[in-house]
Amino acid sequence: MHHFEYRNAELYAEDVPVKAIADAVGTPFYLYSHATLARHFNEFSDAFRGMDRLVCYSAKANTNLAILSLFSKMGGGLDIVSGGELYRGLAAGIPASRIVYSGVGKRIDEIDYALKEGILMFNVESIEELRLLNERAGTLGKTAPIALRVNPDVDPKTHPYISTGLEKNKFGIDVEGAVEGYRLAKTLSHVQVRGIDCHIGSQITEATPFQDALKSLVALVEKLRDAAGIDFEYIDVGGGLGIIYGDESPPLPEEYARAIVDALKGTSLKLILEPGRVIVGNAGILVTRVLYRKKGKAKEFVIVDAGMNDLIRPSLYHAYHGVQPVVKARRNKVTADVVGPICESGDFLAADREMADLKSGELVAVMSAGAYGFVMASNYCSRLRVAEVMVKGDRFHVVRERETYADLMRGESIPPFLT
Ligand code: LLP
Repeated sequence: MHHFEYRNAELYAEDVPVKAIADAVGTPFYLYSHATLARHFNEFSDAFRGMDRLVCYSAKANTNLAILSLFSKMGGGLDIVSGGELYRGLAAGIPASRIVYSGVGKRIDEIDYALKEGILMFNVESIEELRLLNERAGTLGKTAPIALRVNPDVDPKTHPYISTGLEKNKFGIDVEGAVEGYRLAKTLSHVQVRGIDCHIGSQITEATPFQDALKSLVALVEKLRDAAGIDFEYIDVGGGLGIIYGDESPPLPEEYARAIVDALKGTSLKLILEPGRVIVGNAGILVTRVLYRKKGKAKEFVIVDAGMNDLIRPSLYHAYHGVQPVVKARRNKVTADVVGPICESGDFLAADREMADLKSGELVAVMSAGAYGFVMASNYCSRLRVAEVMVKGDRFHVVRERETYADLMRGESIPPFLT
């Protein structure tokens, strides 16, 4: 459920006509609905009512400061994978004590930064990282709170690029390796075991893979408690719950929560959740304008002013995003590719799509673009990264300015030997 709806054939974001925002800020731009963000956050968190839980929103899905500060105000924590995300999270007012840090390639400077800030827990992805953490914590006179990210070898049945819990993936430590890892952690003087973690993938549309992964983690917790006397306070179940882009039918947060709570029955573990897409995905759209129409011999094209550098998901994962007219007109439908201005045939937002027969100058809304949209944008072809706007009720605010040509060359210089 989101707050992008037609009123008299015109698309509104909450109480603001999308066209009015386009007129004010130009195109393309990302547009986020405050009501939808807040609603999704609450629905997700409320699904776990009665549980001792911390919702650590997964920053990578959308790191705009406005979004992070909204979730911060709502009591959320943060799941980060870089020093940059830590920096943003702290700037948004999220206390370090609510931040968990995953990722296979944490650098020393990032580890030091997180140790100094005093984050809740490092989700450690290799034995080498565990040893380094111990060493850095020792040097800084700190203790590193850790969980091992366990790779439970469960098939999340999603796109291969976003499956993370299979043996062949680079993520986490396999179950046997984790037993050894926890035994080692116990002997390290500057490491404190705080929990156990997994994250098996993204855009998962069934509950079973989550359950299977958790069963394996709970068995491991029990084994380590009994055999090695290791105490666990937290279980971090990662993110990954899918959303509806087109015809998917993912579990609702309530069903997802039931699956997780069931799998944790009988344990006294505190729950950490790392949802990203399910909170922000359908709370954002990308608004773009038709530049030209073109009819080739084989295909018809709707050429718009947003490209794969602005929203890479269709090109990278062949992902489906709905495309809708911002102002509906009474016309026949057309089957076309919606393509951007970039010099690659992979530059499309929709392929062979039956859609409204939009004319040049008209606006298109690319739906479900709140997650992994702007954050994955680039300056490819020296295109300016677009503006981001947030709507609340009948107000809107530019939460990130469109870049300028000067921004494009910030930090670049011509070496003296070329002058
Ligand atoms: N926790 C960890 C450790 C993760 O790696 C991820 C996502 C999440 C949580 C949040 O997952 P979510 O709830 O959003 O599914 N760019 C891809 C998605 C990559 C997901 C990476 N990890 C896409 O556009 O589909």
